[in-house]
Amino acid sequence: MNTPNSNRARVTASRAMLLVGALLGGNAGAADAPPPAQTRLHPSAAGASLYVAYCAVCHGSEARGDGPLASGLTVRPTNLRRLALANGGEFPADRVRAFIDGRDVPLAHGTREMPIWGKAFKVSRGAYGERRVQERIDALLTWLRTLQER
Ligand code: HEC
Repeated sequence: MNTPNSNRARVTASRAMLLVGALLGGNAGAADAPPPAQTRLHPSAAGASLYVAYCAVCHGSEARGDGPLASGLTVRPTNLRRLALANGGEFPADRVRAFIDGRDVPLAHGTREMPIWGKAFKVSRGAYGERRVQERIDALLTWLRTLQER
């Protein structure tokens, strides 16, 4: 049997990716397998698929902080459309990158409800794995920029 995902935790995300793939004309591919189509996607399209797969459950399909899991959290997920507005009109790319990654963010209040994506996105050890992490975060930043309210 050929199972596309060895990691069971990724199955749900993969199902979301299939849905996104269908919406984008079957071109999106799963984020975790290395399908060649994935590398041909425009960064913002890849970011959109990653967003649906990994972020929308908390931040909402429109990124307003109202996903299905939001009400069960003690901290409300941030409205990701207002990151620029909340920062004097400029998208705070470095801070957003660091927060999504999460590996270097000290725990100010002892807990963090958002997953540490820098770990979750790591498909393998070493430089290759790290490059994949940064590619995914780059794609997400590109996508989030397009959502910013003015
Ligand atoms: C389990 C729920 C959950 C998921 C999944 C999640 N987040 Fe979050 N996120 C939160 C919460 C809650 C906050 C509020 C800040 C905190 O946790 O202290 C937050 C805050 C943020 C912020 C605000 C950072 C800032 O500087 O204010 C960004 C950006 C963000 N999330 C991006 C993402 C992205 C991108 C994904 C998907 C890769 C994602 N989140 C997935 C719960 C989640």
